[in-house]
Amino acid sequence: MIAVISDIHSNLEALTAVLNDIEQRGAEETICLGDVVGYGPKPRECLDLVIEKTSVTLLGNHDYAVLYEPNKFNVGAEAACFWTRQQLEDEPDAAKRNARWDFLGSLPVKHTISGEPLGMGELMFVHGSPRRPVNEYIFPDDVYSNPNKIHGLFERFSHLCFVGHTHVPGVCLDAPDFYSPDELDMVYEVESGRKALINVGSVGQPRDRDSRAGYVLLEPRLVRFVRVPYDVETAVNRVLTVPELDDYLGIRLREGR
Ligand SMILES: [Fe+2]
Repeated sequence: MIAVISDIHSNLEALTAVLNDIEQRGAEETICLGDVVGYGPKPRECLDLVIEKTSVTLLGNHDYAVLYEPNKFNVGAEAACFWTRQQLEDEPDAAKRNARWDFLGSLPVKHTISGEPLGMGELMFVHGSPRRPVNEYIFPDDVYSNPNKIHGLFERFSHLCFVGHTHVPGVCLDAPDFYSPDELDMVYEVESGRKALINVGSVGQPRDRDSRAGYVLLEPRLVRFVRVPYDVETAVNRVLTVPELDDYLGIRLREGR
C-alpha cells in the first residue's frame, strides 16, 4: 500500500492527522506531490515532518516560489511566500535551516515507478500535470471546456498519472470525464489498459467544500480516496495570529474552499 499526499501548505494540524491515519492503515510508503509550504503558518514543522516521513517529495509551485520567485501569484499568496522564506531564514539552528533549504532545493519535478506489485501499469507522479509538472492546472471543467487539452495530457503517460495542484480530488478518464470521489464511492477501481489522471486532493487546503484533509491510498488494483478530520480551528487561529498571512487563508479552511 502506498499513500500519496499533496498540497500541505504549512498546515501542521492537517499534516499530523493525515500522517497518523497513514500509519494506522499501515501504508509502506508515502509519496508527496509538492506544495509542502506556502499559504499556511507552520512551514518549518511541515518541512521537517515531510523530510522524515516521505520516501519521495516533488516540487510544487509554492515550493518553487519560496526557493526562487513567485510566478503569477495573487497578493495574499505572494505575501505568504515571502513570509515563509523569512521563517526558513530566521531558523536559529544552522543545521536545521540548511537541511530544509537543501531539501527544497533538491526536489524533483516528476517521479515514475512500476505499479506491477499493485496490479497496475506505470505510475507517474507530478505536482501539476504530465506536460508542465510544476505549474499547469488540470481543472474538472477542462473535460467540458477544453477536451483537447485532456487528450494531449493523456498522451504523456502510460497508465496512471497522479497530480495535485488544484486541491480538488477526483478521477479524470479519457472520454474525457471527471468523477468526484463521492461519485465513485471513494474508490476508483483500476482497469488494466485504461488510463486515468487522478487528483489526490489537498492535505492542508481542500477546495471541494469538504474541510477534512484529503489524500489517496494505492491498494491492489484500486485507488482509495481518504478524508481525515483534523483540528481546523487551531489551524485557522494560527493563520489569524500571523499579520503577514491574509485572514482569508485561515477562514477558507473552515469550509474547504
Ligand atoms: Fe497547492
